[in-house]
Amino acid sequence: MDILNKVRSYREEEDKIKWEGTFAEYLDIVKRRPEVAQTAHSRVYNMIKSSGLTERNGQKLYHFFGEEIFGLEDSIERLVEEYFHPAAKRLDVRKRILLLMGPVSGGKSSIVTLLKRGFEQYSKTDAGAVYAIKGCPMHEDPLHLIPNHLRDDFFEEYGIRIEGSLSPLSTMRLEREYNGRIEDVLVERIFFSEDKRVGIGTFTPSDPKSQDIADLTGSIDFSTIAEFGSESDPRAYRFDGEFNKANRGMMEFQEMLKLDEKFLWHLLSLTQEGNFKAGRFALISADELIVAHTNETEYRSFISNKKNEALHSRIIVMPIPYNLKVSQEERIYQKMIRESDMKHVHVAPHALRAAAIFSILTRLETPNKQGVDLVKKMRLYDGESVEGFNQMDVEELQKEFTNEGMKGIDPRYVINRISSAIIRKEVPSINALDVLRALKDGLDQHASISQEDRDKYMNYIAIARKEYDEIAKKEIQKAFVYSYEESAITLMDNYLDNVEAFCNKNKIRDPLTGEEMNPDEKLMRSIEEQIGVSENAKKAFREEILIRISAYARKGKRFDYNSHDRLREAIQKKLFADLKDVVKITTSSKTPDESQLKKVNEVVARLIDEHGYNSTSANELLRYVGSLLNR
Ligand SMILES: Nc1ncnc2c1ncn2[C@@H]1O[C@H](COP(=O)(O)OP(=O)(O)OP(=O)(O)O)[C@@H](O)[C@H]1O
Ligand SMILES: [Mg+2]
Repeated sequence: MDILNKVRSYREEEDKIKWEGTFAEYLDIVKRRPEVAQTAHSRVYNMIKSSGLTERNGQKLYHFFGEEIFGLEDSIERLVEEYFHPAAKRLDVRKRILLLMGPVSGGKSSIVTLLKRGFEQYSKTDAGAVYAIKGCPMHEDPLHLIPNHLRDDFFEEYGIRIEGSLSPLSTMRLEREYNGRIEDVLVERIFFSEDKRVGIGTFTPSDPKSQDIADLTGSIDFSTIAEFGSESDPRAYRFDGEFNKANRGMMEFQEMLKLDEKFLWHLLSLTQEGNFKAGRFALISADELIVAHTNETEYRSFISNKKNEALHSRIIVMPIPYNLKVSQEERIYQKMIRESDMKHVHVAPHALRAAAIFSILTRLETPNKQGVDLVKKMRLYDGESVEGFNQMDVEELQKEFTNEGMKGIDPRYVINRISSAIIRKEVPSINALDVLRALKDGLDQHASISQEDRDKYMNYIAIARKEYDEIAKKEIQKAFVYSYEESAITLMDNYLDNVEAFCNKNKIRDPLTGEEMNPDEKLMRSIEEQIGVSENAKKAFREEILIRISAYARKGKRFDYNSHDRLREAIQKKLFADLKDVVKITTSSKTPDESQLKKVNEVVARLIDEHGYNSTSANELLRYVGSLLNR
């Protein structure tokens, strides 16, 4: 019965925030909280702002989108700063249609859906409260009741500019039901809801021949026309088009550019003048945010058509390219899997990463910058540190191609391939190799990929595979050492003691025997060689480390395992190199002896307990790495 209780308490919550009163009482509310009278654009902007924002490296991260949309921070920042913000201030962009343009499955619809769901929630909060003339099918703004000649006075007193005129239906009701007494007109609080068609509309083009403009602007109600005697009586008209229903809120235009021209003109008049024509009535005022989306090809063919020139200047295009960060791409897949019927499937660690590497590579343009290849670019874009490059280089790379991210493999394709990989396996557990194989097989079937792209993509799969091999080896090697971190720290401390003695020309004391010895050159070199420090460069390298240690000490910080990236890398590699043979023998032995068997079981258990594997994927990983090391 828990759910029924929840339903009840939800209803009670809703009842609590309901409000109904006269226009006079509504004006009291407006006086106290002028934000209830804000425009739709201003409401969207405030809604986005109300979720908060963080600034990182000069980039604004809007939390409103952050939980659902990954890796599109730049596009979103632009969307907010160049459209929502100025539109909220009633600047001219508000009068243009917002067109999100981007490749398939790049998150355009997701952004719009988020805005819609956000609107529904926001209208239930105090800050986002919306009021309307009671009983009006268009939830008309009550302030429209203030006659034109008094609006300057109203502005003086309330500081609010009223736009738009009272609709034909409300004009008639004012006369008939309220005898022209605007103060008595009933006003109610409304709650945006797409299902109930309040303040949120969606329009999808259908067959151009049968599509009726009434879908947008409403239509004559033939059943009541006899009663009211005339087609121009607003009571004989149903104000139930998408334009009507989305008033005060927002409307999504799917596939806008597929629409017939005459529809587009209605749309333009609505955005440009804030009104539209319906039936035989004077223009009807409406205040709504219009968001449309389309892909690049369609957009290009639209603007290349001379006939569309006028339309073109009234649209503001916001590019929504694909995400270009591997780690964010992984999050997209995780989300899509969570939302799919594959929830129960075990996805081995790094399987999605392998797919993400492939996808991102297909989306990147090859850089011209010296010393940067595609893989380095991919890492830099994802915020990884690559030796010899800094944030400025990343920005330079990003500026090199203005249109990057408009093509390549889309997330939905990857998810489809993953689900086909699952079907093929007997157990509901898939790993990186399954995923890469499925992606590869998919390329053969993918009709819309050119031969040239296919060859490129095959190569990207090979790169993703190589990247995965490295990850897999590390994972296994780590699991082989009982306490990896501890061994690494011990090895590093040992190295640093020797380096210190070497640089200061001191002896080193054996901790066990207390005996004095020369620094262990062999040990130091075996670590330094891992990262290519040559015999000639060793002294400088060691001195640099000592300087770093004393710099840390001066600041009162402790130099630890994570303080020096290259040293850490060297230590890791050394540990792995020492381990290699153990791993090789243990993982590939056909007839393991008892101690090997015990080791394998331990490693499997550690992979499961600490690294997120299940027993299938842990054993698969072990076998795979064994075969890699034996090559
Ligand atoms: N950057 C992203 N962040 C989060 N999810 C994303 C992102 N890009 C794509 N997706 C996911 O991919 C799927 C397709 O996205 P969506 O439908 O929003 O794309 P679209 O741009 O509208 O595509 P289409 O042009 O095919 O209509 C969704 O499940 C969405 O969650
Ligand atoms: Mg879409």
